[in-house]
Amino acid sequence: MRTTKILVLDRSEDLAAQVRGVADELRPRPEVVVCERVGAVADVLTDQGPFDVLVAGPSLGTRSGLSRLEVIHDDLPGMSLMLAFTHRPDAQLRDIVRTGAIDLVQLPIEDEGLLESLERSIALAKAHRAAEPALAGALAGAQPGAPGRVFTISSAAGGCGKTFYATNLAYFLTHHTGKRACIVDLDLQFGEVSTALRLRPRYTIFDALQRDDTDEADLRAHIEEYTVSHETGLHVLAAPKDPTEADRISPPDVTRIIEAIRSRFDYVIVDTPAALTEIVLAALDLSDELYVMATLDLPSVRNMGVFLNTLDKLKIPSDNVQLIMNKAEKDVGIDIDQVLKLFPQGFSSVLPYAREVSKSINVGTPVIAFMPNTEVSKKLAAGMASLLPDDVRARVDLAAEPARKGLFRRKAKQAVAPVQP
Ligand SMILES: Nc1ncnc2c1ncn2[C@@H]1O[C@H](COP(=O)(O)OP(=O)(O)OP(=O)(O)O)[C@@H](O)[C@H]1O
Ligand SMILES: [Mg+2]
Repeated sequence: MRTTKILVLDRSEDLAAQVRGVADELRPRPEVVVCERVGAVADVLTDQGPFDVLVAGPSLGTRSGLSRLEVIHDDLPGMSLMLAFTHRPDAQLRDIVRTGAIDLVQLPIEDEGLLESLERSIALAKAHRAAEPALAGALAGAQPGAPGRVFTISSAAGGCGKTFYATNLAYFLTHHTGKRACIVDLDLQFGEVSTALRLRPRYTIFDALQRDDTDEADLRAHIEEYTVSHETGLHVLAAPKDPTEADRISPPDVTRIIEAIRSRFDYVIVDTPAALTEIVLAALDLSDELYVMATLDLPSVRNMGVFLNTLDKLKIPSDNVQLIMNKAEKDVGIDIDQVLKLFPQGFSSVLPYAREVSKSINVGTPVIAFMPNTEVSKKLAAGMASLLPDDVRARVDLAAEPARKGLFRRKAKQAVAPVQP
């Protein structure tokens, strides 16, 4: 995600100094640019933008200043405009309204008040930005009615990074394609997708199933109202708030929910508990791609083998199964190359153990968005690149090493070898 940028436009340095001081308190810390020559603002906006917030100071409080702001707003409607004036401008209220300002602060102002106003302006700019890709996707002719592509993320052992991968995959797809993605948290008892993204869902999958009307068209028409959206634009259908509600959800319910979600979203990412339950199997029936994750320890690797054998017995085609090794560290007493060889179908990603993952979860942002230039983000992106349409992939600078896929994955379908570590 790019750094938040604030432009302060005023002839005096005082306002800019205060904005800088207050911005230092914000995390992630925004970049503050100052323009002291009102006449130069167009160049600054073009050369150093895009900005999230424009703070216009008292020298813009004239009629001509306000009309200049009106022109800027018309050109850049997504940038939040804050007016910071010492006294009410000598202009009609209408001229102020036309600037599109979202806040008017009276100077002098306490740091606390300015901070609150800046935070609100930044949040509004982000919300505007988040809505843009979805709009672009819609304008680009997202085919209404074509069901979305369903990805299920699974593992035999707990804590392998399913939720971590699901959130990053959803972000990656929506960010690069501008299409709509929704994560369905099927870890019904202990789902953590909303926590990992710091969301507070009002409704959950359980509420969506409580609708009186059992008509599928009705569920499809209303399913989006039960999701919660993240500032990056991705949506989440949260797991039930109470584990007892989880027990009341049946496999056919899961089928209905995924069908409804995929009628409204281009990408559906299903996060699951660490088990092959009937609930998970219902999701697999509708999945286009299945990811199976493991970490670099013997129980996890062994269970991945058992898991893949079970899929084989259940006649789930292995063509669309991708393996991911997560938290791969050197010197843990297990040779990664040996492990990789145990699975002839190869791994589509081998992701390192990285502290940035915890940091990103603490701020509720997928690590690819929060720290795109770290090794873990680059490896995630390289492994996901093949999911992008060709034209998008050509445009996107994945700036990473070549996808592991080419190194490990063999095209020929092979039987899954049992693991004998
Ligand atoms: N590559 C990584 N490097 C470091 N920490 C990681 C990595 N991947 C995941 N983690 C951390 O490991 C923990 C487990 O990850 P996560 O919750 O995504 O796993 P999970 O498979 O969803 O677990 P569960 O089975 O309990 O749902 C989290 O604290 C997460 O931050
Ligand atoms: Mg999880």
